[in-house]
Amino acid sequence: MAAGHTLVVTVLIGSLYPVLAAQQPHVVFILADDFGWFDVGYHGSEIRTPNLDKLSATGVRLENYYVQPLCTPSRNQLMTGRYQIHTGMQHQIIWPCQPYCVPLDEKLLPQMMKEAGYATHMVGKWHLGMYKKDCLPTRRGFDTYFGYLTGSEDYFSHIRCSPISALNLSRCALDLREGEQVATGYKGVYSTEMLSQRAVGIIEKHNSNKPLFLYVALQAVHAPLEAPERYVAPYSFIKDLNRRRYAGMVSAMDEAVGNITRTLQRRRLWDNTVLVFSTDNGGQTLSGGSNWPLRGRKWSLWEGGIRGVGFVASPLLKQPGTVSHELIHISDWLPTLVDLAGGSTNGTKPLDGFNVWDTISKGFASPRVELLHNIDPLYVDIAPCLETKHPSTLTQVLSGGSWANSGFNVSIHAAIRSSNWKLLTGYPGCDKWFPRPGYNSSKSSPSEMDPLKPVMLFDIEKDPEERLEVSAQFPAVVEYLLGRLQQYQKSAVPINFPDDDPRCDPGPTGAWGPWA
Ligand SMILES: *[C@@H]1O[C@H](CO)[C@@H](O)[C@H](O)[C@H]1NC(C)=O
Ligand SMILES: *[C@@H]1O[C@H](CO)[C@@H](O)[C@H](O)[C@H]1NC(C)=O
Ligand SMILES: *[C@@H]1O[C@H](CO)[C@@H](O)[C@H](O)[C@H]1NC(C)=O
Ligand SMILES: *[C@@H]1O[C@H](CO)[C@@H](O)[C@H](O)[C@H]1NC(C)=O
Ligand SMILES: *[C@@H]1O[C@H](CO)[C@@H](O)[C@H](O)[C@H]1NC(C)=O
Repeated sequence: MAAGHTLVVTVLIGSLYPVLAAQQPHVVFILADDFGWFDVGYHGSEIRTPNLDKLSATGVRLENYYVQPLCTPSRNQLMTGRYQIHTGMQHQIIWPCQPYCVPLDEKLLPQMMKEAGYATHMVGKWHLGMYKKDCLPTRRGFDTYFGYLTGSEDYFSHIRCSPISALNLSRCALDLREGEQVATGYKGVYSTEMLSQRAVGIIEKHNSNKPLFLYVALQAVHAPLEAPERYVAPYSFIKDLNRRRYAGMVSAMDEAVGNITRTLQRRRLWDNTVLVFSTDNGGQTLSGGSNWPLRGRKWSLWEGGIRGVGFVASPLLKQPGTVSHELIHISDWLPTLVDLAGGSTNGTKPLDGFNVWDTISKGFASPRVELLHNIDPLYVDIAPCLETKHPSTLTQVLSGGSWANSGFNVSIHAAIRSSNWKLLTGYPGCDKWFPRPGYNSSKSSPSEMDPLKPVMLFDIEKDPEERLEVSAQFPAVVEYLLGRLQQYQKSAVPINFPDDDPRCDPGPTGAWGPWA
């Protein structure tokens, strides 16, 4: 009896378990920071990215792929599958002393992957709030965490300096954690190598009978511009020093992606892996990035701020080696990856993302025909670049013009996409066309720029550079999209953007982290 029973169990485990395991792909998500449209080799950049080029060439490049214009918002949507207007996080990033995080009643992507049986690991930048321990990655679905909780720290010392307005001082403190503990002992280790080595270590130690969910949120290539000389030296031909250093940082990141991929192959996990590579927002032209030929940059709702570099590489793709021009958004990863994992989105609030796996893998039409880029009534451009030719532009934009009496307040910074159309209202942020790196500006001279208007319409498919404003020619489209913005705004929850809490101060020897 006892022996027979054991045999039955063995047969069941032997026959069923590997089948289930084989159906659940390993998922590795690599998020780059501030990586611009023109900073990847396959978009023609002077920066070399052989690993990204090769991986994406054998996968599916997403060329109509959108992210949010800033760090926290993109990560927020990746983790919740929901628009910022639905989490109260439609305004800006989380600053180190602000006492809030992604609402704790939001169920996050790693929680669903964990429920589906995955080992869940995170390496790198969190930036989704940390004022209390319940906000930390390890309390929100990740089995393990190694990384930093805020942003903009030094790549070698891992120290982040930030003003604490309530205390009238500027504090520099370590921002690096192993799980929930402060991680010391990494001084002098370059962040891109430190994080990719950790990711490699996780893959090496992974028990291949269990599906793996690994989220690698690299510090690269956000400012400060720092890279070991060996990465920068090959770019001596780049005259602009910021761009040259930035190029070195990109090379290190490309190498990191190569190292991670090779480890997956060496461990024989690759054949059953889906690897996603994505930027979090457009490039920051103030810090070496380029989105040429797109308009604007990080912090703006122009294409340069939100059209993201992204691709999927995986032997599981049905049409490898293709380019997708279907509309896909960062909020789509949650339903897509949870479904691939055989998991359930049960327990989430209403999702704004779509399952786009058939679109990516088989080339089907995207289920997404509309995309709310954002609505932020409190928007302030931290680095405005309005041309001197348009001193009155901002006032004009904020007065509403001929659409002042529509149902949507067109002074509000907002943008929405519907099939080929994109409507922008209010001041979208830095509106320049920055020249191609190494070239002088040509078509982008201020004298050729139309002044901004409170309502602007572009046909993004024909005019991805947003040069030809056509609201006057298509008033019905404008009216329709203003109506959609009005409906979205009605579903928005109030903005949560609290004042700094002076209790955040880590003191002269502490580290940034939970204080409440
Ligand atoms: C803040 O600190 C600066 C320099 O230490 C000082 O000049 C200024 O008066 C302080 N402001 C307040 C409001 O305490
Ligand atoms: C990639 O791996 C090589 C060999 O182990 C190592 O020397 C290099 O530092 C790694 N690069 C990064 C960015 O981690
Ligand atoms: C969804 O969650 C509810 C409440 O936790 C549970 O009762 C239900 O069985 C779940 N459904 C599925 C399909 O997992
Ligand atoms: C419209 O939005 C702007 C910007 O958010 C705000 O300053 C203004 O008060 C709003 N107007 C109305 C009528 O609500
Ligand atoms: C850019 O303009 C400067 C000043 O007009 C000129 O000296 C330089 O040669 C130009 N460079 C290119 C690449 O056209």
